[in-house]
Amino acid sequence: MKNIKAIIFDAYGTLFDVNSAAEKCKDKIGNKWENFSNYWRTTQLEYTWLRSLMTRHKDFWKVTEDSLDKSMKVFNINTDLRAELLDLYKILSPYPEVKETLKLLREKKYYKLSILSNGTPTLLDELVNRNNLNDIFDDIFSVEEVSIFKPNSKVYDMPIKKYNIKEKEVAFLSANTWDVSGGGNYGFKAIWVNRNNAIFDNLDYTPENEINNLKQLLEII
Ligand code: LAC
Repeated sequence: MKNIKAIIFDAYGTLFDVNSAAEKCKDKIGNKWENFSNYWRTTQLEYTWLRSLMTRHKDFWKVTEDSLDKSMKVFNINTDLRAELLDLYKILSPYPEVKETLKLLREKKYYKLSILSNGTPTLLDELVNRNNLNDIFDDIFSVEEVSIFKPNSKVYDMPIKKYNIKEKEVAFLSANTWDVSGGGNYGFKAIWVNRNNAIFDNLDYTPENEINNLKQLLEII
């Protein structure tokens, strides 16, 4: 990949494992934990898209709570678990290869490295600090600055304006197919982190590259 000036990462699902909160409670939830976790994530994302379309923004933490409340009812989960699940969501675990890959990238001084996420600044700072990733990123861009969620182009504009670079000078990584399509249609060189051998979307964009885990980025960048 040539002429890249910034490598920009989605956070939830790409760097941090969104299923790790429910997984840590799997003994209490039982074997429906994974379906429940997927439903919570899907509902959370639907709420971000719907709120953006309705122009009724609420921050990602409140959307995470609202979607959890619906999901707990649908899956008949004991409400005693609500606080525990939310606390665990604040300290999601990174995927196994993430820390090492980011450290190796940071040693290459010529790229800006940043996060661009739906998360609030407080949530993202806590995730980065708790996982000892403070020294890695030049910037953490949160949608709260523009009060609308991905894939609105105002979100993808943030790093372009701050770094004064062209869209095609950004390598944008996401595990979320719709976010790859969003960033790719915007003009980024979007790389799909396809950890689970999934099928890509039909949204007018084919990823620049597809990798199975973040470490493979080191081979293509
Ligand atoms: C984020 C969501 C899309 O971090 O995962 O922006």
